[in-house]
Amino acid sequence: MTNVLLATGTHNMKCTRIFLLTLVIAVSGCDGPSSTHSPEAEAASRQLVPQDLDIAAIYGRSCSSCHTVAATGAPLTGDVSAWSPRMEKGMDAMVDSVINGFGGMPPFGLCMDCDAQQFEALIQFMATPGASP
Ligand code: HEC
Repeated sequence: MTNVLLATGTHNMKCTRIFLLTLVIAVSGCDGPSSTHSPEAEAASRQLVPQDLDIAAIYGRSCSSCHTVAATGAPLTGDVSAWSPRMEKGMDAMVDSVINGFGGMPPFGLCMDCDAQQFEALIQFMATPGASP
């Protein structure tokens, strides 16, 4: 910080311009084409319901409260671009993430009586392409 203040006028201008440019890129990155944060991806995620009735019930009372709300930071249901890099870790690692909690997700994804098989079905459902274009 001191260095910046002591720098010459011209140098300062350059720094400011680069700083502003970086800021613009950073800001546009947030609003960019990343489907994870787009209102369309969020709306699309809310249209999707698991076919299996038991899985749908669990999904409705736990996973969906975060995985259809972009602001939670959770990969949205049906948003393949958000899920595929995670799915590359393998299904076992995905289930472990849910059981142990992961980042902003609490342990068991708030389904305390779910078993690994149910988690697998829920993950499979959420990571499958949705109705989004
Ligand atoms: C309270 C909010 C919340 C609930 C409820 C929730 N999740 Fe999550 N989930 C998140 C967030 C936030 C992330 C992203 C965490 C990160 O990357 O830091 C996430 C990530 C995941 C991941 C990816 C983990 C990884 O290793 O990349 C899986 C799988 C997952 N959730 C499955 C589920 C399942 C299944 C349920 C329902 C049983 C569920 N989640 C319920 C918030 C939630």
